[in-house]
Amino acid sequence: SRLPRGGVDLAGKRIVVTAGGTREPLDPVRFLGNRSSGRQGVAVAAAAQARGADVLLIAAHLEVDPPEGVELVEVQTALELQEAVTEAARSADIVVMTAAVADYRPAVTRESKIKKSEAGDTLSIELVANPDILAALSATRRDGQVVVGFAAETEPDPSTLIELGRTKLAAKGSDFLVLNQVGWEQGFATESNEVVVLRKGGDIVMEASGSKLSVADRILDVVV
Ligand code: CTP
Ligand code: CA
Repeated sequence: SRLPRGGVDLAGKRIVVTAGGTREPLDPVRFLGNRSSGRQGVAVAAAAQARGADVLLIAAHLEVDPPEGVELVEVQTALELQEAVTEAARSADIVVMTAAVADYRPAVTRESKIKKSEAGDTLSIELVANPDILAALSATRRDGQVVVGFAAETEPDPSTLIELGRTKLAAKGSDFLVLNQVGWEQGFATESNEVVVLRKGGDIVMEASGSKLSVADRILDVVV
């Protein structure tokens, strides 16, 4: 229904987008999660679809509806997301890792509710690191495949934020890193976003602010 600026410049391209936030179960009724709403990832999927791409959206607990007509795979945990995106990446031209992946998961998921009566006044939960999915995707990407990562940082100083982004991009090995500042009131359930995009090597290739859909289109311009 909306006509993208550059026309259907992603026609014939397969794009895999991850969105939302993973949840790591502690017991049958509780999880460790994060505040990602999935809005920016859903906007990337919608923008790519409008530009003619064949879109697979891998969704973890979206707070918004996925775009109509987009192929959808729902996942709960970081390990499930890893399995889905690793498989899908084999046939993808573009992979965009918008999802907020839990860095750690409980070492043990209990089969029954953790009871206050066992724990007492304090409760310690051992966590183990989840695999770094973006780094693995970047390391194994096929020729010509474009891999895009995101980074949400709470660093308030703009130049320190860029430096953090450069370090993160180098560690991940992706082609691009979309950097944005988040905080208690900023970045999550909001309709708009403000990003800086770094490319491999660390140069700033794009800065955008506005609706998450307009930011998504600018990111796809960079990918194209
Ligand atoms: N990511 C991932 N696998 C993880 C953690 C993150 O693939 N286990 C991806 C995210 O989807 C995002 C990018 O890596 O595209 C950056 O995530 P971020 O949380 O900003 O970076 P981390 O490397 O986890 O570093 P930290 O949270 O310590 O800042
Ligand atoms: Ca992280």
